[in-house]
Amino acid sequence: MALVDEVKSRSDIVQVISDYVDLDTSSRQPKALCPFHAERTPSFVIYPESGSWRCFGSCAEGGDVISFVEKRENMSFRDALEHLANRAGIKIEERDNEPRKKPVTGLIEANVIAAEYFHSRLKAPVGEQALEYLKERGINSETAVRRGLGLAPSGMETLSGHLRTRNVQARTARDAGLITRNEDASWRDMFTGRLTIEIRDDRDRIIGFGARTLDGSEPKYLNTPQTDAFDKSAILYGLNWAAESIRDANEAVVVEGYMDVIAAHEHGFTNVVASMGTAVTGLQIDSLARYATARGTGTIILCLDSDAAGEAATMRALEGVTAELSSGRRRVLDVKVARPDGGKDPDEAIRTDPDSWRASLNDAEPLLDYLIVAKSKLHNLDTGQGIADFANSVAPLVYNITNDYDRDRYWSSIAKLAGVSEQRLKSIVDKPSPASRARRSSTQNKGNRSKFLDERRISSEQAIEVLASSAGDPLEEHLLSLVMQREDLREHAVAMPAEFFHESDNRALFTAWQSSHTLDEISHEMGDELAEKAHRLAVRELPPSNQARHVEDVAQCVMRLRERHFRRIKKLQTERLQELEGEEAKELLDQSLIPNENLRKVMTGRA
Ligand code: UTP
Ligand code: MN
Repeated sequence: MALVDEVKSRSDIVQVISDYVDLDTSSRQPKALCPFHAERTPSFVIYPESGSWRCFGSCAEGGDVISFVEKRENMSFRDALEHLANRAGIKIEERDNEPRKKPVTGLIEANVIAAEYFHSRLKAPVGEQALEYLKERGINSETAVRRGLGLAPSGMETLSGHLRTRNVQARTARDAGLITRNEDASWRDMFTGRLTIEIRDDRDRIIGFGARTLDGSEPKYLNTPQTDAFDKSAILYGLNWAAESIRDANEAVVVEGYMDVIAAHEHGFTNVVASMGTAVTGLQIDSLARYATARGTGTIILCLDSDAAGEAATMRALEGVTAELSSGRRRVLDVKVARPDGGKDPDEAIRTDPDSWRASLNDAEPLLDYLIVAKSKLHNLDTGQGIADFANSVAPLVYNITNDYDRDRYWSSIAKLAGVSEQRLKSIVDKPSPASRARRSSTQNKGNRSKFLDERRISSEQAIEVLASSAGDPLEEHLLSLVMQREDLREHAVAMPAEFFHESDNRALFTAWQSSHTLDEISHEMGDELAEKAHRLAVRELPPSNQARHVEDVAQCVMRLRERHFRRIKKLQTERLQELEGEEAKELLDQSLIPNENLRKVMTGRA
């Protein structure tokens, strides 16, 4: 049996889910308040027979026991699988020969021992000065313990010596970034004479350390280098403390530094994390967004230093954010920028006046408002060229807005900043790129098309819509009939992207089938018409055949649907190329510039 199947069959889905939510088990299908969105009446249902769950409320999610843990624990599929395997007492190593991530347990164990050591040094006589320093920064020794602070001493006593007495191999300590080799091949500690700060991941594992100088030596902070356990571009300092609160508040606040996070949490701002001084990366935003939008829509507030370096950092941070936001999150995630005044960093600001810091978070402005003003400062708006450059630097962002009202509002504020009329502004800016036009045209209602869209594109899209909605598609329906009637064919089709179906009803049925196991489950969330169609397909007589032929049949359908899908995309692109000239055509030709997501949306005519 494949590991996935074994984990599923040996995990009692009701038991697993009851670890996380209060279940009403009075009926055969236990119910609960959905853990993934806020609600008052339970719409989260478990189907023990098929090992699946589904929310019939606004999040409309569903899946199996693995996807539940994945979502609830914010884990990757692999981690959720391992977690459940452990829980069910299945030994993975023996069973599984898939390539695995390098094990990081050894590194984390070494880090735990190091953290204990650093902590003990802070409490020892050598730690007196460091404790004094912390006190000046408003951190007493209880806080120091609570926040995982310690001391890497600078004398004869070394961590490497301590690790030896604890039987940690030098190689492991090196891989964990705790020690490093001298020129003469002897080992030395990575951190000496520094205040240490544990860095934990969202599962509370110590994955690395930050270490602040105590004597003014450079650099101010030394951090664990990149290791198998510590990937600075993906982690956020403080997420171990903040995760639950971010999920509950649907809001995360990002600051720059370790001390900012510690002060925030000590003062009850429990949804604060730090980017650790570097530009916020897409990976970081993504992991935050998973918590902030776990129950629907959410907000990320970037709160970066208000000095010049801070502004530059904000701009850099936004690059990561805007890159990330081009994906599906854009619809549910709001990104704002807070600029507490007074030139203090959050650590100082919070300790001096927490209320005013809170107020500055409440006053955070939308990312785009901030960006537009910030970009306006980079250009000389007294010259025509400066105005044109400014307008063109922000226009692509505005073209991406799907809401007419917001878009108009931004045009008007840009015009005001540039000191020109809106009409003049629109004559200055370059036409939107094909990708952004495609995105917009697919996310707008028909009656609501913007004047920026060209008529010919609309007609080809409409043609496809008409094509797609014409009654029945034999190939698509045949595949649906097959898989809905024979559970043993599931594995041969379940991984096929739903977008290969071009008929929207069929696509919806297929999507429902992917996460359901019975006709009832599929029908449950469908309108009457679709439920009726599901039923019709599920009882339609299949040509007489055997298992092997059926498998072959499914494979054929999948292959043909895939081919057809890509042929249509190609055709659409060719059509577009013919409509465009010069630069735009070049841009479209460069496939990598056009996100598949957009093409998919164009193809399906849906947001
Ligand atoms: P700051 O220089 O703003 O430090 O860097 P800070 O947190 O306010 O430090 P204190 O208050 O003087 O102790 C912000 C963050 O950038 C990272 C650290 O994560 C720091 O918290 N940083 C900064 C480094 O990694 N290395 C450095 O040399 C400096
Ligand atoms: Mn500071």
